Amino acid sequence: MIMARASNKTNPARELVFGDLWEYDAAPETAAPKLKKRYDLFINGQFVAPKKGKYFTTINPGTEVKIADIALGGAADVDAACKAAQKAFTTVWGPMPGKERGKYLYRIARLLQDHAREFAVAETMDGGKPIKESRDFDLPMAAAHFFYHAGWADKLPYLAAGRQVAPYGVVGQVIPWNFPLLMLAWKIAPALAAGNCVVLKPAETTSLTALKFGEICQEAGLPPGVVNIVSGAGETGAAVINHPLTSKVAFTGSTEVGKLIMRSLAGTEKKMTLELGGKAANIVFEDAPLDQAVEGIINGIFFNQGHVCCAGSRLLVQESVAGEVLARLKRRLATLRVGDPLDKNTDIGAINSKEQLGKITELVKAGVAEGAEMHQSACQLPAKGFYFRPTLFAKVSMSHRIAREEIFGPVLSMLTFRTLEEAVEKANNTPYGLSAGVWTDKGSKILKMSTLLKAGVVWANTYNKFDPASPFGGYKESGFGREGGKQGLMDYCKVG
Ligand code: NAI
Ligand code: MG
Repeated sequence: MIMARASNKTNPARELVFGDLWEYDAAPETAAPKLKKRYDLFINGQFVAPKKGKYFTTINPGTEVKIADIALGGAADVDAACKAAQKAFTTVWGPMPGKERGKYLYRIARLLQDHAREFAVAETMDGGKPIKESRDFDLPMAAAHFFYHAGWADKLPYLAAGRQVAPYGVVGQVIPWNFPLLMLAWKIAPALAAGNCVVLKPAETTSLTALKFGEICQEAGLPPGVVNIVSGAGETGAAVINHPLTSKVAFTGSTEVGKLIMRSLAGTEKKMTLELGGKAANIVFEDAPLDQAVEGIINGIFFNQGHVCCAGSRLLVQESVAGEVLARLKRRLATLRVGDPLDKNTDIGAINSKEQLGKITELVKAGVAEGAEMHQSACQLPAKGFYFRPTLFAKVSMSHRIAREEIFGPVLSMLTFRTLEEAVEKANNTPYGLSAGVWTDKGSKILKMSTLLKAGVVWANTYNKFDPASPFGGYKESGFGREGGKQGLMDYCKVG
């Protein structure tokens, strides 16, 4: 039985060769999430209109079609949210035994599982990521973070042996658009487990699942004010960060805004954790299993359209196998399916916004202008929506912008090295230090590299693997503080 047909639209008569892209029938996800036409702010357990009555539009970046109106929260709304959080902290959540708090977190985790399909579709529609990722990664991981932290809620006395731990009170959190619900879970689950109440601002292009999370809080019977979601843009985020009631703030986003936040909080008592950009090196030694490495490299950079702070955007390959790795990568690149994010076969979905597409396009042009050798897949892109071809640059040198700046798109820059020392020197030669990958047959080399690389996470013979029990965070301009694990939870506690 013929199940698929190779795509060779320019020359249908040509014989199929290994590596051709087999075209599948469309396999769209059909679940229609329950979406409202208008989303209000979630403050004190209720959905309320913004005080100034302003709304902005959220669109589907895969089609450019409007999805809903989203409330634009202002300073007065942030103030109401912070006051509601403070009241919930002093009257209900703070005094509540950890065991009881844990029950709410378990309930939220289970409700996220119950609503997983609806949330996955909403996430894909609003943010552009392929449905197979929101379904198989974002949603299960978001629920896992609530499960993991639910388990900690009644064990806080064991977090730091012999020391007292206490919550901060009201925590202000600002998150980006690349993993909207997952970043919310990374922020809210540990904060609540530790006994804090939160005011969270989602990113302006992806507020939908955060506001839908308000509905989950209602369904879980979470006491009003424990979680507040205030949508809006940068100004709303700044109001959350700078509000006098937020005694701890957590931010994930660009290094530029991270620096701004540090400056605005200098001299205040506020505690702060920042998770910023990255320019990770994925290092392939000549003794690596090359097929596995190629899959890992592809996953490392093209996962979520490269909208990943720990994306393996710089590939360092040992010179003796560079030609072979490049040939295999080019072959694999040609078989990646780019297109409708809601299609279950799609590997690479839509770029999150027109602005981000512009940034990626500009940096890729700079790569060509500076003399790197560009390889792009020849796939057809949809006529509407924001899409970018998976792109591979060879003959990149350390001085090229594509080797130095965070592109945050499906663009891989390949460099070569001769010795382990040269690989370390090149990998660490960046202002960032979030993550790195090492591909080799030798365990001893993995251990050596993991101590020499200045990166918060070092993956070995794999890439982009996450677990709620495993702390994540950076060195240098990638930020400070950890998320996940015991270390991440400690960042939400005053340790006496
Ligand atoms: P951004 O840093 O401006 O946005 C992240 C979040 O911060 C959003 O919720 C935004 O509304 C908020 N924000 C913006 N200005 C603020 C301020 N002054 N005070 C408080 N909150 C503020 O990131 P943007 O502009 O969306 O993306 C620019 C670049 O940043 C990307 O191209 C990428 O390189 C990097 N980025 C890194 C992320 C990461 O996970 N580390 C996530 C998103 C972007
Ligand atoms: Mg910005």
